[in-house]
Amino acid sequence: MQDSAAMRMILVGPPGAGKGTQAQRLVDSFRIPHISSGDMLRAAVKEGTELGKQADVIMKSGALVPDDLVIGMILERIAKPDAAGGFMLDGFPRTTPQAQALDRALTQAGVALDAVVLIEVPDSLIIERGVGRRTDPDTGKIYHLKFDPPPADIAGRLVHRKDDTEEAIVKRLEKYHSETAPIVPFYEGKGVLRRVDGVGTPDEVTKRITAVLAE
Ligand code: AP5
Repeated sequence: MQDSAAMRMILVGPPGAGKGTQAQRLVDSFRIPHISSGDMLRAAVKEGTELGKQADVIMKSGALVPDDLVIGMILERIAKPDAAGGFMLDGFPRTTPQAQALDRALTQAGVALDAVVLIEVPDSLIIERGVGRRTDPDTGKIYHLKFDPPPADIAGRLVHRKDDTEEAIVKRLEKYHSETAPIVPFYEGKGVLRRVDGVGTPDEVTKRITAVLAE
């Protein structure tokens, strides 16, 4: 593994695989920013920016926001000073054009990816994970009503994402298989792909990711 301060990595996986959960656990030890395209888009929706207005309806339905909008947003973000020493991308890239655009930008900057971690979870577990998810708007922390229950004193302020309905999760899963899964062989060909079993407790999954990153 390279110096942790220089770690450039991506978390890939189906909706509800645990990308956000694992990113929150890992970024502190690597001292790199957690850059989630979904979180950035949700912030744009909340702020009512032009991007947010365009993304709102698309996200609620479970479809993907157009590549040109997301690529611009992420390339701008990773060019910021806090990402110069590394970053953890979560939810981007999720189409082949996004992976190619990232590749070109990194090559141009003279840097390379250290690892693309694929968190594998079977489709049969995905709906329950999404429907039961709740997020704390004050801290951003992700909980699950059954698998990672929130403390009772914050239960009243937790948010249930608009795209965490069964209907939208089914659509997001379809999009994952048709649009995102094809980027896996792209990264496998570059020798940076690391597969991790995402079934188990969040602690077990964190240990597996830490182990593959140390290989
Ligand atoms: P985004 O926010 O990226 O959503 P996603 O990829 O569907 O992933 P999720 O956030 O749903 O899941 P996660 O893997 O982070 O799981 P989590 O840790 O929360 O994208 C949302 C939308 O934005 C997209 O549909 C699209 O419209 C748009 N978008 C975003 N990026 C885009 C892009 N690049 N291009 C185009 N459009 C884009 O865990 C889920 C639940 O499971 C939680 O409740 C958690 O507590 C629980 N859990 C976690 N780990 C475990 C475990 N090991 N065991 C049991 N439960 C667990």
